[in-house]
Amino acid sequence: MKRARIIGTGSCVPDKVLTNSDLEKFLDTTDEWIVSRTGIRERHIASEGEYTSDLATRAAERALAMAGVRGEEIDLVVVGTITGDFPWPATACLVQKNLRATGAAAFDVSAACSGFVYALDAAVRRIETGVSKKALVIGAEVLSRAVDWEDRNTCILFGDGAGAVVLEGQEGEHGVLSTHLHADGSYWELLYQPGFGSRFPASEAGIKERLPFLKMQGNEVFKVAVRSLSEVAQEALAANGMTTADIDLFIPHQANRRILEATAKRLGLGDEQVYINVDRFGNTSGASIPLALDEANRAGRVKDGDIVLLDAFGGGFTWASALLRW
Ligand code: ACO
Repeated sequence: MKRARIIGTGSCVPDKVLTNSDLEKFLDTTDEWIVSRTGIRERHIASEGEYTSDLATRAAERALAMAGVRGEEIDLVVVGTITGDFPWPATACLVQKNLRATGAAAFDVSAACSGFVYALDAAVRRIETGVSKKALVIGAEVLSRAVDWEDRNTCILFGDGAGAVVLEGQEGEHGVLSTHLHADGSYWELLYQPGFGSRFPASEAGIKERLPFLKMQGNEVFKVAVRSLSEVAQEALAANGMTTADIDLFIPHQANRRILEATAKRLGLGDEQVYINVDRFGNTSGASIPLALDEANRAGRVKDGDIVLLDAFGGGFTWASALLRW
């Protein structure tokens, strides 16, 4: 059986930066509150005319360039997103067109902040069974258009961006060693975007009730996130006969610094093992893990043979891990 190996990474964030002091100008908040509760200092925000498929395409182009692969060689494009250009068609189809990946199947995966790891799992299975030879997996979001900029409880947390990886089926010990996916739909109401879908179809009344914007019960999310991120990380290690000491780099979903630190503490990980960039990008949902992975890769933080653990949690609730030998 071939393993799915990452042969290129790429990422893209919009140029526009929104700092905490920018937020202070139109929200009842402070830099001190945001930094102490979340660790977030700034986030990137898409400009008018800049869409999820644009960020996804640029991240994918950079990953393809690193891999030395042309768009036409790709046979699968999977995008993890909850803020695609349209409810449908899939953002993956727009990316497929932009990359001229004319022979590729293309679909989106909706698993909120776990979207990239869920998407990765789908691509890995197709590569391991030989159905796919070279795949692109992308996490991309423009959350700035799904948050309520009048709700200080939520809008301060999120940012826009995209990250991508090129996967190739290879013989040998390098690549994705395991993936584990979980969900518990009984928590759906703690973190969701009510409108507009079949339950709340588009209406002026719905706009007045602010239904198109994300709703969250932050305290409850926090508790379940830390527990689930820790458990799915331990599950991945146990399945591969490893312990936390074997992890060279732990890349958790960048929700907020307190969640990341609580998870790392629960797992007994040292600071040098954990990658954190939430201070500069905020929570970019499905984009956060591939964005962090690309940064780490380009900074030389992952070396041949390193054990890398990707760990995700998001709305649904969904949670997931992927253990890789780099
Ligand atoms: N600025 C100033 N004050 C604020 C702000 C703000 N931006 N937001 C809320 N407050 C106020 C609240 O109104 C409340 O005031 P009150 O006591 O007068 O009612 C007070 O601060 C405390 O509010 P809490 O919600 O209890 O604050 P908490 O310490 O729980 O921090 C936070 C809130 C940061 C959202 C926290 O619950 C959290 O990190 N939750 C995790 C949620 C998360 O990261 N979600 C991301 C999506 S899920 C994921 O990606 C995994």
